[in-house]
Amino acid sequence: MSGKTANYIPGLEGVVAAQTRLSRVDGQKGELIIGGYPLETLAPNASFEEMIYLLWNSALPTALQLESLQNKLATKRELPFATLDLLRNVAKTRAPVMDALRMAASTLSLSSEVAANGDDIDADAIALVAAFPSIVAAYWRLLNGQPPVMPSTDLSHAANYLYMLTGETPGEAKARGLEIYLNTVVDHGLNASTFTARVIASTASDLVSAVTGAIGALKGPLHGGAPGPALDMVFEIGQPDKAEPYMRKLLNNGERLMGFGHRVYKVRDPRAEVLSQAAQAMYAADGDMQLFELVKHVEKVAVELLDEYKPGRNLQTNVEFYTALLLHGLGLHAELFSPTFAISRVVGWLAHCFEQQQTERILRPRAEYIGETEKKWVAIGDRSGKFSYV
Ligand code: COA
Repeated sequence: MSGKTANYIPGLEGVVAAQTRLSRVDGQKGELIIGGYPLETLAPNASFEEMIYLLWNSALPTALQLESLQNKLATKRELPFATLDLLRNVAKTRAPVMDALRMAASTLSLSSEVAANGDDIDADAIALVAAFPSIVAAYWRLLNGQPPVMPSTDLSHAANYLYMLTGETPGEAKARGLEIYLNTVVDHGLNASTFTARVIASTASDLVSAVTGAIGALKGPLHGGAPGPALDMVFEIGQPDKAEPYMRKLLNNGERLMGFGHRVYKVRDPRAEVLSQAAQAMYAADGDMQLFELVKHVEKVAVELLDEYKPGRNLQTNVEFYTALLLHGLGLHAELFSPTFAISRVVGWLAHCFEQQQTERILRPRAEYIGETEKKWVAIGDRSGKFSYV
């Protein structure tokens, strides 16, 4: 027996499973609203700490409120001993950074506020957001045979992450480039990891559990694994005159151009524009402008070719394409792209958890049973057949 009924919607596509004031994605118009502001207004102007405040409080902070948040985050950057100890052991197994982040995030339940399990939601959320860059940077250094760097309490969230990765205080252009990236990807509707966080929060579970589950969802390559391959493509192209023959060959072979097309956006992903401008400013101040120009050229040719090969599909540049350029310009290895995304998105996950907690309703869809209903019981000695888990 198989087949779908009118009620079954594969992938829950188009199903409205929550209401949110956090972000609105309009794929037809190419608009992204975050906390009431168009992305293009917010991302280049706000600090990441302002974004956190906005998402958690539905309003931009006053100077005093911002300072208080900055201080709270800065004092929570240092990892508990148990977390560092775990990271040292995980590094011996060479596990991917996202796995280390997932394992380490769950140890944050050991720290005092989080152990209180919901007594002080604000403190739990702060502890999680503050710890993410420390976990990723410490693990990355351990993987590379270097000791972790103690966090700085003087730097911004973004600048401190770069500092903990390299041991050097980043220049203004790089710190700001990263900050605009973090601002841009902080929330994006009910994507798979955000939905995961909301499902866990809906059971009245704790924030560490919700965030740990969301990391697990984000880790899957279908969620956002394209920036690495998009960058590889640009490097393989190498010089502008090779862009067209290289991508034509891919398209003739039926392959996809990484960093183009989107399930929701049918026009240019607004995040691509914001990140392209941020990358331009960063590369102009402190980077390889030749690479930046090559990327712009590859984009132009790719969009033209996609129009030629897939007319009417409107395949445009997506967020991954300029993510790759920007994060590469910051000196980040491709393996750090998804963990860096998580450093931003954890703020959105938590904001969604807060919203979900307000609804006091468990997220509990149904499944359509398509199995048999009249099987006869067979005693164990009389059973035959191939072993299978399903
Ligand atoms: N390069 C070449 N062709 C592409 C393409 C791309 N990047 N993206 C979509 N297409 C083509 C498909 O082959 C398909 O062609 P067909 O109808 O002749 O078979 C058509 O466009 C529609 O594809 P479909 O998979 O239905 O589009 P989608 O909107 O569901 O897919 C993505 C969205 C993101 C999965 C898809 O665009 C893709 O694989 N992009 C490349 C990977 C990437 O950048 N991912 C990051 C997304 S943020």
